[in-house]
Amino acid sequence: MKRQMALIIGTALTLVMAQAQAEDISAGEAIYTQSCAHCHGGSGQGMGSFPSIAGQDADYIAKRLTQYRAGEKVGPNTPLMAPMATDLSDDDIADLAAYISTTFE
Ligand code: HEC
Repeated sequence: MKRQMALIIGTALTLVMAQAQAEDISAGEAIYTQSCAHCHGGSGQGMGSFPSIAGQDADYIAKRLTQYRAGEKVGPNTPLMAPMATDLSDDDIADLAAYISTTFE
């Protein structure tokens, strides 16, 4: 009986942890709408010196955001973008990458 309980609790914990690690597209959408859309556009299409981010895969988006967060220079307008990434957590980046790569074409 005790062993069974331990097994059930162990399984439940594993499920909860697996869920915490999965990307959350709706969380990514919430961040995007609030912090990104006014530059990159409602469909990631970009405008003016704000590049289009539509059609990129999740790895590319996540890599860029990690570079900006780390303060690396990426393109000529890095100073406009880098401050937008400084407060993003690893989870935020994964959520944003999942949202952008699956929603915009
Ligand atoms: C103030 C306007 C502005 C905001 C807000 C902004 N960005 Fe950017 N973003 C830029 C600019 C400008 C660049 C190009 C920077 C460069 O030259 O390196 C860029 C570049 C990027 C790139 C790399 C594009 C490529 O082709 O390599 C990604 C990905 C990106 N932004 C995602 C985001 C996300 C996600 C957010 C919200 C957290 C965001 N941006 C908020 C202006 C902005």
